[in-house]
Amino acid sequence: MTTVRIADLGALVGTAVELRGWLTASRSSGKIAFLQLRDGSGFVQAVVSRADVGDAAFETTRGLTQESAVRVRGEARADPRSPSGVEIKATHVEAIAPSVGYPITPKEHGVDFLMERRHLHLRHRAPWAILRIRDEVERAIHDFFAARGFVRFDAPFFMPTAVEGTTNLFEIELFEEEKAYLSQSGQLYAEAGALALGAVYTFGPTFRAEKSKTRRHLLEFWMVEPEVAFLEHDGNVQLQEDLVAYLVGRVLEHRAVELETLGRDPARLEPAAQGGFPRISYDEALALLAEAGEQLEWGDDFGAPHETLLGERFDRPLVIERYPTHVKAFYMETVPGDPTRVLCDDVIAPEGYGEIIGGSQRIHDLALLEQRIAEHALPREAFDWYLDLRRYGSVPHSGFGLGLERTLAWITGVHHLREVIPFPRMLTRMYP
Ligand code: 4AD
Ligand code: MG
Repeated sequence: MTTVRIADLGALVGTAVELRGWLTASRSSGKIAFLQLRDGSGFVQAVVSRADVGDAAFETTRGLTQESAVRVRGEARADPRSPSGVEIKATHVEAIAPSVGYPITPKEHGVDFLMERRHLHLRHRAPWAILRIRDEVERAIHDFFAARGFVRFDAPFFMPTAVEGTTNLFEIELFEEEKAYLSQSGQLYAEAGALALGAVYTFGPTFRAEKSKTRRHLLEFWMVEPEVAFLEHDGNVQLQEDLVAYLVGRVLEHRAVELETLGRDPARLEPAAQGGFPRISYDEALALLAEAGEQLEWGDDFGAPHETLLGERFDRPLVIERYPTHVKAFYMETVPGDPTRVLCDDVIAPEGYGEIIGGSQRIHDLALLEQRIAEHALPREAFDWYLDLRRYGSVPHSGFGLGLERTLAWITGVHHLREVIPFPRMLTRMYP
């Protein structure tokens, strides 16, 4: 008898199988026991009857505790009531390893209790479903860019400079006196990559010393950053829409069981998979906010409550473009004929999840970029290599960064970003 995965049981109905996994819960009477099993690939119920296995094995089965490792043999049977469509009629149950005093019992536990035991909590249904959706989205990101001829390009994590301002920069001491920063974004390196390879994307962890405790901020999060030579603002926005629509479509297509496990209604995501994202300017966004009773001055940046208000008006992600120059990063290209605004955009998720993408066309004029570096009081020497990209065959180019955890929080419908990464790193959490 070969050991099979729970995920593959659907095709094995009517055959004898062996499973290896863990017990998540059980209940029994004098004659029959119901074991809830998991093996990582899925969840299934095994039915054990005293008559089938004998008294000794039945008593052993009844004594199994939560998270004991077990081996179960039996027949896979169709069961329309089970989510997998299958249950096991067991003929043999055997303990592989005991589990004594497992702390995450079936009763309700608080978030802190679960996060303190995150290494164990990962075994439970909601994290299981979320991490499988995360895996699907990561794979879909690679598939999307590979199909379009992008080259994956790995940016360094130790950096000599800030990219997105200095307020949330992690500074580290390297060797004597020498300082470096943890990467806030791989963008500047991706720009070098785009001019070398045409179209590239970086995908890796990024670090921001966010001192505020919000549900949208992690100290360490993953970002995918495409960068494309000769791409201008409109094409950049289109690329963002295509990517987000593709990612949502892949989850709807391949992770329906996981969405259902989480109680996430797929109908809330379907509009996003169709594309056609509404597109408004910063100025129009100000007017919409004023209508909703939120009066901002031209030049104010949006906070989380503003993003929530704007995002909730639409059934799919909202693109807001052309922000005032002074609220955005130093490298953004200005709107032709209007130096007060830049060719950038943010993508705001619906349902209050806030900004999932920030992107822009980059300044390709050497003199303007030098001026911006001076205006932002950035150390010019550290950017000399970056200025080289404007000295030798400089062309318009654009890119963006999509925050993986923001995107996943929206897709899975969870409240806080800490739920969508295996081991979240926050101001209040470094353990486990
Ligand atoms: O808007 P941001 O700061 O853009 C950049 O870093 C650009 N250099 C990207 C580029 O053009 N290549 O960050 C991009 C995205 C945000 O939209 C958000 O989704 C996510 O990164 N993000 C965070 N996610 C979790 N925790 C944090 N502290 C985050 N800060 C930004
Ligand atoms: Mg941003």
